[in-house]
Amino acid sequence: MDINNRAAIVTGGARRVGKAIALALAGAGARVFIHYNSSAGPAEETLDEIEAAGGTGAIGAVDLGNPELAPQLIDMATDAVGEVSILVNSASGFATDSLDDVSIEGWRRSHDLTLVSPVFLTQAFAAALGDGADGAVVNVTDVRTMTPYQEHFSYVIAKGGVDAFTRAAALALAPRIRVNAVALGVILPPPGEDAAYVEALAEQLPLQRVGGTDPVAAAALHLIRNDFITGEIIRLDGGGHLV
Ligand SMILES: NC(=O)c1ccc[n+]([C@@H]2O[C@H](COP(=O)([O-])OP(=O)(O)OC[C@H]3O[C@@H](n4cnc5c(N)ncnc54)[C@H](OP(=O)(O)O)[C@@H]3O)[C@@H](O)[C@H]2O)c1
Repeated sequence: MDINNRAAIVTGGARRVGKAIALALAGAGARVFIHYNSSAGPAEETLDEIEAAGGTGAIGAVDLGNPELAPQLIDMATDAVGEVSILVNSASGFATDSLDDVSIEGWRRSHDLTLVSPVFLTQAFAAALGDGADGAVVNVTDVRTMTPYQEHFSYVIAKGGVDAFTRAAALALAPRIRVNAVALGVILPPPGEDAAYVEALAEQLPLQRVGGTDPVAAAALHLIRNDFITGEIIRLDGGGHLV
């Protein structure tokens, strides 16, 4: 797929990982709809950066904690940037809970934001794509679905659902729409933690460094561009799965 002149949505595109993917898509010529929830200012700044570099885009807020609102995002983006052929599901929660203390409400909250909204966004995206048009979805998941965190229990299980959803949707939507994922390891400090936190984790990795967002954006663009890849989940973990 040639990204130039395509319209794309990046959920959680105002900050951090989502922002890096939004900027990379815009740099490749896409009109990017930057979705946000609470980060209105950062969303404006991300759009300013895109426009300063000669790109185009738009911003819009939807609370993806309520999956019933997810289809509205496709409509908003289509109105703003035209028929959407690229969807990046990056928005997520990162709840702290365990099997001991997770509540039904907390479990549902994690799943609604991290798994259910991406599913129904993808459903609405596929339904809106015109006859004969092709599309690409990239989900952002977590390498820890294979070696689960104990302290982010509902989150990691929701991300495990994203892994399965990636493969199921790739089959369901082929050949018109390809669905892939990037699975992240030590990329950025989680909210509330500093650089030292991830640097300590990175020391244990074969590649001995923190990933940062550039490799994530590069992998997302690769999955969008390469027309013979679907149902794939690329790990960006500095080799962490090997140790
Ligand atoms: N950072 C890492 O090292 C790492 C590692 C493994 C996996 N990941 C995955 O990579 C993705 C991006 O990571 P990140 O660290 O950039 O995430 P983050 O800083 O936790 O940001 C999450 C994004 O989700 C959005 N969001 C939160 N609640 C929302 C809601 N109710 N409705 C709509 N959007 C909502 C936020 O938007 P607002 O700011 O506008 O509220 C924010 O942009 C996530 O899927 C994460 O699980 C990241």
